[in-house]
Amino acid sequence: MKQDQQKKLAAEEAVKWIKDGMVVGLGSGSTVNWMLEKLGEKVQQGLQITGIPSSKKTERLAKQLGIPLTDSSSVSRIDIAIDGADEVDRQFNLIKGGGGSLVREKIVDAHATEFIVIVDESKLVSTLGKFPLPVEVLPFGWELTARTIAELGCEPKIRERNGERFISDNGNYILDCQFNSIQNPQQLHEQLKQMTGVVETGLFVQMADRIIIGKEQTAEEIV
Ligand code: 5RP
Repeated sequence: MKQDQQKKLAAEEAVKWIKDGMVVGLGSGSTVNWMLEKLGEKVQQGLQITGIPSSKKTERLAKQLGIPLTDSSSVSRIDIAIDGADEVDRQFNLIKGGGGSLVREKIVDAHATEFIVIVDESKLVSTLGKFPLPVEVLPFGWELTARTIAELGCEPKIRERNGERFISDNGNYILDCQFNSIQNPQQLHEQLKQMTGVVETGLFVQMADRIIIGKEQTAEEIV
């Protein structure tokens, strides 16, 4: 599939930035899975790194691929983090959380010296917001939290998977909030974060150092 090929090219380009001895933040999602495949190969060939997974799914796959892992309590730094996104703009703002791992991803990505985002070209937009913004909320009183969020001009939908309520790795719920157009990502993020019951938002505002976009034959950085 064209999109898969683009994800793979972006992922392989990003792996070139990983050097011996690095502590590597491992994001989540299908694009990151391509990155893990490549990183696993490099580890088998002798590359020495330690990974910090940002989700249970990533942890499982990284283990299967033989990538050495640790957790945040055992490291004093994260040299590089590589993660996917649901939408990116040219101002280096992202929407993340389509896979429901946004809190752990944000913690890992925010602490990395270099944060690289890998996406296929369908993810590049002029204005964020077509993709419903994932907001992680505490289960207690989530209906009240959703009502407060709705006052910002969206219709929050509680996330379900296979007919069951989705529960994040942190035991919380996700509200998918369709805004259509997010003109000021920083302001919206701050408004949401101030609300009692909101744990974190999927807006990653100007956190990325590099955004690598997979195209048909190549991968290119946004400059
Ligand atoms: C998970 C994420 C993912 O990075 C995002 O959903 C992109 O996923 P994919 O690479 O499968 O398109 O934020 O919480």
